[in-house]
Amino acid sequence: MEKVSRCFAQKSRHLLLSTGGKVSRINTRALTSLCPEDGHFAEPKMVTSFPGPKVLEHKGRLAKHQRVDQLVMFCDFENSKGNFLQDIDGNVFLDIFQQIASIPLGYNHQALLDCVKTEEFQKILINRPAQGLSPGKEMMDRMENTLMKVAPRGLKHVQQMMCGACANENAMKAVFSRYNAMRRGSIDPTPLELETCMDGRAPGAPDDLCIVAFDKAFHGRSLATFAISRSKAMHKFDYPSWHWPTATFPNLKYPLEDNVQENREEEQRCLESLDNLIRDSNASGKYVAGLIVEPIQSEGGDRHASNEFFQGVQAILHKYNASLIVDEVQTGGGASGEWWLHEQWNLPVPPDVVTFSKKFLFGGFFFREELFPQHPMRIQNTWLGDPARLAMLDAVVQTVEKDDLMTRTKEAGVELMKGINQLQNDFPEYVSKGRGNGTICAFDMPSTEKRDQFLGLCRNEGLGVIGSGDIAVRFRPALIFSEAHAKMTYELMDTAFTKLRAQDAN
Ligand SMILES: Cc1ncc(COP(=O)(O)O)c(C=O)c1O
Repeated sequence: MEKVSRCFAQKSRHLLLSTGGKVSRINTRALTSLCPEDGHFAEPKMVTSFPGPKVLEHKGRLAKHQRVDQLVMFCDFENSKGNFLQDIDGNVFLDIFQQIASIPLGYNHQALLDCVKTEEFQKILINRPAQGLSPGKEMMDRMENTLMKVAPRGLKHVQQMMCGACANENAMKAVFSRYNAMRRGSIDPTPLELETCMDGRAPGAPDDLCIVAFDKAFHGRSLATFAISRSKAMHKFDYPSWHWPTATFPNLKYPLEDNVQENREEEQRCLESLDNLIRDSNASGKYVAGLIVEPIQSEGGDRHASNEFFQGVQAILHKYNASLIVDEVQTGGGASGEWWLHEQWNLPVPPDVVTFSKKFLFGGFFFREELFPQHPMRIQNTWLGDPARLAMLDAVVQTVEKDDLMTRTKEAGVELMKGINQLQNDFPEYVSKGRGNGTICAFDMPSTEKRDQFLGLCRNEGLGVIGSGDIAVRFRPALIFSEAHAKMTYELMDTAFTKLRAQDAN
């Protein structure tokens, strides 16, 4: 990686380093921030080792009420800004995880501060409507000008929901309805179906329908989304579930350019096994109504597949009249450099459903005409989205366009990959399988233990980062993350790996 084109802030940091100063002691006020959104923050600043005393004290208090093993830190949101997150001990992190990939514009973005300070917004916030019954007067403008502006190509129907799991769960309901209406030959249920569904018996509650999902997939933590999630046993045991078929997701070899033929064969093998799986399932009387897939398997370890693979999946589903649900909860919202990653696949026709949440600030799904509910109250809950979040999404969409954040994200992604490749060269015993799409990047480490040790070292360097799957390190920065932040990420990881190597040598 080219080390000369550092921005001013990073040059200053090196000057201080070379004169014997420690990163944690740098007076950041002397430095220039990497982008205006970061406010006065120019780099991380550690004032305690991590986790610091206040985080530990709060964690201890919370532990009296909840399990806290997974809890990383307590944040000081008042004092966080842009790409930098401050914790309650005053430590400042370059945050490349952004609350599980859910913050679109970083912390305390001015456009959102402006959006929430109006009286109009406050009234929307305090008078939360049951949107399925009595939405506010602003709903239609927001629907037409905000949600439809970011709709995936070819999809003009949308359903607002709550979170990602809620979006996926209701998307499955829509898919089941379409499939059952098709095989019944009528949209209307029979009297027997109406009677039997009330106590969960077939045919009203069909026990011969299923949704296919991939191994290592993650689609949420509600009971139905557990039936399609297979990333970790710890999420699932003890909970009753449906026994629905698991398809095999390709296990690609890296670097991709050196393994073209092998990866093509691997994907072909997975497609053939998917075709057989659906054929056999249907033949055994368990009909496949649809399949759900993440464009990049995120919680399962940042697993990628090619555009051709996804085209193949869609073609197989068409053969069996089954719907394609693309779960863009983690990949949607701009981190690929487009609002939707699946649009890179160049599918001949749009997917049947695309689900979203996280960077879109509330959950929901876009869908094709064929899935339009044929009866009232089929997809419904109390709030059906949140007009306050939709107003904020409007500010996000306008900012992304005005500041051309998609281009910034693409450029940052290229720089992140340069850094990952450099780390791969310099620390081959630790880093492998560098991969990315936009800023949705990752690499693998040799074991869970080494990966977790590395994450701890990163946090002590002031880098907020987290893993995915058993051995991956994942990058999920906000859309205001730039090339300069990518270079800083590389530097911090380089330092953390150097320390890891020194620890392992002792
Ligand atoms: C791909 C994917 N789908 C669904 C979900 C569930 O979303 P939520 O936690 O909002 O229910 C997640 C959460 O991480 C996810 O990554």
